Amino acid sequence: MKKNILVIPGDGIGQEVTKWGKAALEKIAELYSHQFSFDEAIMGHVAIEATGDPLPDETLNKAKNSDAILFGAIGHAKYDNDPSAKVRPEQGLLKIRKELGLYANIRPILLFDELLEASSLKPAILKGTDILFFRELTGDVYFGEKTKADDGSYASDLMNYHRYEVERIAVKAFEAARMRSKRLCSVDKANVLETSRLWRDVVQEVSKRYPDVETEHMFIDNAAMQLVKNPRKFDVVLTANLFGDILTDEASQIAGSMGMLASASIGDGTGFFEPIHGSAHDIAGKNIANPLASILSAALMLEISFGLKEEAKVITNAVADTLKTGYRTTDITNTSTAQDYILGTADMGAKVLEAIEAQK
Ligand code: IPM
Ligand code: MN
Repeated sequence: MKKNILVIPGDGIGQEVTKWGKAALEKIAELYSHQFSFDEAIMGHVAIEATGDPLPDETLNKAKNSDAILFGAIGHAKYDNDPSAKVRPEQGLLKIRKELGLYANIRPILLFDELLEASSLKPAILKGTDILFFRELTGDVYFGEKTKADDGSYASDLMNYHRYEVERIAVKAFEAARMRSKRLCSVDKANVLETSRLWRDVVQEVSKRYPDVETEHMFIDNAAMQLVKNPRKFDVVLTANLFGDILTDEASQIAGSMGMLASASIGDGTGFFEPIHGSAHDIAGKNIANPLASILSAALMLEISFGLKEEAKVITNAVADTLKTGYRTTDITNTSTAQDYILGTADMGAKVLEAIEAQK
C-alpha cells in the first residue's frame, strides 16, 4: 500500500512523542512492504514563532493533500496566563479540524490489564472497562460566535448546533455500537440547554434506525460521576464537543494516564490522529514523556484511514507486550515498579519497535 503521511509534531512533548508514532509506522511499512512517505509541517506555538500564524497555509495545504496526518500536541504555557493574547497556538488545531471537516473525534479508552494498578481508581472497579467515545469536534461552543466588551466587563461564547451536525456524528457512533456490544449512551444537558434538547431529539430519531442498539441518555453531570463510580457501565459514549473534551480527560485516568490515550479525528476527507494529551511544557525536552499514546495513534491511523487491521493490531499487541514485560514511563509507574524498568521516551519507543518486530 502506498500512502503519503503528514507529520505535525506541534509543541512541547509533541516533538518527542511523535517521533515514535512515526517510527512505528516506518517499522510497519518495512515489515509489511508498504510504501509510506512522510512529510513534516509546523503548527501551534512553533508556527507562531516561525511565521506569526498558528496554522500557516503551507501546513494546511500539505494536510489537505495527504492521506493521513499524525499530530503531536499544541500549546505553550506563555499563553495560559495571558488571556489577552489574540494569536494562540490552539487556534491552529481548531482551524485544521474545521478546514478538514473532522467532525468525529473517536477516543478509545483502552485499558491494559498491566496498568490496572497505575490508575488512581481501584482495580476492581476498572477491570474489564472498554469505552469508545465519540466526541463531536467541529461545532458547539468551540466554534460559536465570540464577543468581548471593549472595557472587558463582559464576554460570551455562543453554544450552537445544527441538526445535521448532530446526526452525522450520531450515525458514526451508532454504527460503531452495532459492531461492539450494541449499547450507546448519549450524554447531554437537556434539562437546561436548548442545544442539548436538539441533540437528544436528533439522537432519539437516529436511534430508531438502530433498533438493535440499546440507547440511553444521560446528563453530563451524572455521566461524570458514573464514569468513576462504575466505568464498565459504558460502551459507546456519544457527546458534544465541550462535554467530550472534559469527559475524555476524566476517562484517561481509567487507562492509567493521559499518556496512554490515542484519538482519531475523522470526517469526509483526510483523517487526523493524535494523542489526547497536551504539550506538557513542564516535562518537555526531558525525555520522560510517554510515547505510547502517539504509537497507539499510529495504530488508529492504520486501522481507520488505511483499513490495515492486522498491522494496527500488531502495534497494539506490541504495546501490550512491552507493558507485560514490565517497562513503564514515569506517568504509569507505581510503588512496585522496579527502577530498572522505568524508561525514558526514547527507550520506551525503542522497546515497542522491538516488540513489533518480534511478532513478525
Ligand atoms: C483536545 C484539546 C483541545 C480541545 C485544545 C488543545 C484546543 O484539549 O484535543 O482535547 O479542547 O479540543
Ligand atoms: Mn482536551
